[in-house]
Amino acid sequence: MGAASGRKTAAAVTVFGMCGIIGYVGRTNSDQPLEVACEALARLQYRGYDSAGIVVANENGLSFVKRAGKLSVLEQALVENPLPAATAAIGHTRWATHGGPTDANAHPHLSANGEVAVVHNGILENHAELREELIQAGVGFRSETDTEVAAHLLARALAEIGSLPEAMRATSKRLEGAFTLLAVAADNPHLVVGARRTSPLVVGLGEGENFLGSDVAAFVARTNRALELGQDQVVTITADAVNVTDFDGNPVKAREFTVDWDVSAAVKGGYATFMEKEIHDQPMAVRDTLLGRLAPNGRMRLDELRTAESVLRSADKIVVVACGTAAYAGHVAKYAIEHWCRVPVEVELAHEFRYRDPVVTEKTLVVAISQSGETMDTIMAIRHAREQGAKVIAVVNTMGSTIARESDAALYTHAGPEVAVASTKAFLSQIAATYLLGLYLAELRGTMFPDEVRAVLDELELMPAKIQRVIDGEEAIRDLAGQMRDVQSVLFLGRHVGFPVAMEGALKLKELAYIHAEGFAAGELKHGPIALIDEGQPVFVVVPSPRGRDVLHEKVLSNIQEVRARGARTLVVAEAGDEAVAEFASQVFWVPPTPTLLAPLVAVVPLQIFACALASVKGLDVDQPRNLAKSVTVE
Ligand code: F6R
Repeated sequence: MGAASGRKTAAAVTVFGMCGIIGYVGRTNSDQPLEVACEALARLQYRGYDSAGIVVANENGLSFVKRAGKLSVLEQALVENPLPAATAAIGHTRWATHGGPTDANAHPHLSANGEVAVVHNGILENHAELREELIQAGVGFRSETDTEVAAHLLARALAEIGSLPEAMRATSKRLEGAFTLLAVAADNPHLVVGARRTSPLVVGLGEGENFLGSDVAAFVARTNRALELGQDQVVTITADAVNVTDFDGNPVKAREFTVDWDVSAAVKGGYATFMEKEIHDQPMAVRDTLLGRLAPNGRMRLDELRTAESVLRSADKIVVVACGTAAYAGHVAKYAIEHWCRVPVEVELAHEFRYRDPVVTEKTLVVAISQSGETMDTIMAIRHAREQGAKVIAVVNTMGSTIARESDAALYTHAGPEVAVASTKAFLSQIAATYLLGLYLAELRGTMFPDEVRAVLDELELMPAKIQRVIDGEEAIRDLAGQMRDVQSVLFLGRHVGFPVAMEGALKLKELAYIHAEGFAAGELKHGPIALIDEGQPVFVVVPSPRGRDVLHEKVLSNIQEVRARGARTLVVAEAGDEAVAEFASQVFWVPPTPTLLAPLVAVVPLQIFACALASVKGLDVDQPRNLAKSVTVE
């Protein structure tokens, strides 16, 4: 099928690796480089956690330790083989793509002469040819990774050129695919050089020390001043200077930005897991996302979107692209934005959007939702949309991330760093931010009066306290999880905004507790899924407010009765005071009374707590579920 005129066809499939990277240089020999690297890897584990390694540099050369397994294995190895005091370090936490998770395949990779060490995030598409070329030249390989070719090429270029930044530029030009590379060399322990093409890399600016990280989480505990790097750039850091060039050596001025994350947000703060902490952070995440959005004249303020105002007025369709939990936030937003703005909203998984030839024009407003800002499927979707002339607004949590940079405007969620792999506080802040966008559009396009917008904003501002009340009642849901250790399957039902909440509840349970779970639109039950119900089948039902549209509430009550009549154990999330529901529920989890469209912000919380508690009861790793990584930077 040919593309219609004016539309561009899909570019070739690109594959990128995931991993976390840290680089550091200080002024004098100390344990600081090692400490910074260990701390950064702990924060970056969400990018991958099947092996890790660190190399430090001092005047005696390079010393490294790397191990397959979680970071704790590396930490133990560092106790047994302490690394010396140094001026520089680079470190890596891996999610395997080329070559299994073994000690040999863990990063750093050293050149044959041991003079150069590299860590890498991404995939080098021409690694096979380069490996062949190097083998022909007599180089012996020690790993199965694509990365090792970069270490050898860099060492050879360094031997020829004599300057590590120059050698990095020359090497980068030979590499195809996506990469962030960091390198240190034995002959100069006072600098770390980085290169980036497509994979992320940001600079952290310190006093007498500088940092490189795959994202700001790597160094946010040490500095909140950061520099954005662009495509095909090489950066050199020393203790006192940062120098950025393109691959040809032309100087580049990088944009500085301030990271407004609270450092304490990236530590467990007394909770057993990051996920528990992040669930408890949710009132704050929503509050911070709403903060400062109201101008003194009572009108809404979304300063970040100013440039796109005419586009926002004339858009004839909104397409939300996102993956996983972020896509469910988009589903919730669709109900609100269509209702408030009277503009059609489509929600599409970014990978489906990207490869199905969607109808996108200059009048399409694409909203890309992403916590990490690095989800490759979403990046590819926004690139595709922009090629068709659409404008893209990112609703994104990570400053300086690829999605934030590549969109026409970025509306930041201020959830702070989310470390647990399963998304919780990001989901709530994505709903809050997309609602702000919807209200802003409604006011701009004249589909709501300012006082109507104000009334919703007032309700939104009450949400953090309501979310807190749900969290305060967590014991009941934890008890339920304690009784359900052996359950094999759980179903979730909802209508209207309760439908995406049901899907999110099911996703949380699958990924955390490894239990089969499905979320259905309650109205769909009789069209098939009701056949799954038999004696004792647990079914969570998200009940809409009885003060909202009567028909919605009544229909869901009927659905509860239908499954109950067939033996289901009905676990109902309902608004406090909704007495009608109690009669049909095996157990009710009450949430504070909330207007229908805002209810997802409270209704999802018991489902998050349930999944988290059930995974803990089963003895599973809540923060790092099997087979998953926090940022899916591969397509
Ligand atoms: C589920 C989860 C994922 C992410 C998805 C998108 O708990 O975390 O489904 O929501 O991978 O990630 P971001 O938001 O970083 O684009």
